[in-house]
Amino acid sequence: MACRKLGSDIFCVGAIDWDRRLFDELIPLPQGTSYNAYLIKGSEKTALLDTVDPSKKAELLENLDRLGVKTIDYLVAHHAEQDHSGSIPTILERFPEARLVTNPKCKPMLVDLLHVPEVKFQTINDGDELSLGHRTLQFILTPWVHWPETMSTYLKEEGILFSCDFFGSHLAASELLVADPALVINGAKRYFAEIMMPFRTAIKGNLEKIKNLNIRMIAPSHGPVHDKPEFIVNAYREWTSDAVKNQVVIPFVSMHGSTRRMVDHLVEGLMERGIQVEPFNLTVADVGELAMSLVDAATVVIATPTVLAGAHPSAAYAAFLTNALRPKVRFASLIGSYGWGGKTLEQIKGLLGNLQAEILEPVLVKGDPSDEDLEKLNRLADLILAKHKEQKLC
Ligand code: FEO
Repeated sequence: MACRKLGSDIFCVGAIDWDRRLFDELIPLPQGTSYNAYLIKGSEKTALLDTVDPSKKAELLENLDRLGVKTIDYLVAHHAEQDHSGSIPTILERFPEARLVTNPKCKPMLVDLLHVPEVKFQTINDGDELSLGHRTLQFILTPWVHWPETMSTYLKEEGILFSCDFFGSHLAASELLVADPALVINGAKRYFAEIMMPFRTAIKGNLEKIKNLNIRMIAPSHGPVHDKPEFIVNAYREWTSDAVKNQVVIPFVSMHGSTRRMVDHLVEGLMERGIQVEPFNLTVADVGELAMSLVDAATVVIATPTVLAGAHPSAAYAAFLTNALRPKVRFASLIGSYGWGGKTLEQIKGLLGNLQAEILEPVLVKGDPSDEDLEKLNRLADLILAKHKEQKLC
């Protein structure tokens, strides 16, 4: 893969991973991803910002060879996760003169994860600057995007913010700059939903921290570079805000159709009341899509049959994931069918302990839903509408 030019003596020397379909053995990547490492040449020094996933280290070395890079003075590590740090040992071996520049939180993580010798490090703090000659790197700590040690680098003279995961998108694209804004924003929202949503308060703080910089471009470590930075910054402002929308998300699973009939009835009832609703059949759903829906929704309703005396494992997984992602939903409920009894309600409630949500009266029915049971679902739809109206969402 050829390296791509971002500016005069600034290159993206990372790798595009067209085929990768799963990250952290959890997150679906329907459109692949990229690991963006950036080479910046100054009049006196050369810096490499991040590396690539170890599976792509040969491409990184090849890109550096193609540019004729003989010396790297500074290797900046923004984040210790291995998709960016994993090739640091390879780079330090090829360029033994390089100082590994990072912050005091990231340093021990790199030692633990990659066994980098202490002697290689140069530690910087928030706001510190490093001169490359006619160019200056300024380091800005932007923690909890999604690990505690993450930082960004602001190339002052060019107005480029190298933001690592922050503002990134899992999207393999041949264009270095954003070519299709809708596609990139979708990928960025998916990425935000999957790993950053639990830390939205910290991310809000990071947005405040960079707001006075004169940013001309944002160059993340995944996906295209934003040459219209206000587009992605405004999207992040919306995602991290406290505002929710007139939306209901229904992750569901049904074994013999009873719970499915309840879901269909509730979906129709919500639609009739002017509420946007997104049902996710958990047997086929992309959990990334589910996570994205949870970014904005006011209400989540989990729908599950009772099996083995409790919630269906797929529904328990959806509840566990929802709880881990800590969406800003205001209301939650549970619907489903059971044969003879069980602990479904207690289990699901127990799994949603992180949510700051009011629990609306669940509708659990015995067997196939009767007319009376369907009427209970109508009342749940009425209640959701009333709650959304109270919140001035409709
Ligand atoms: Fe792209 Fe948190 O690593």
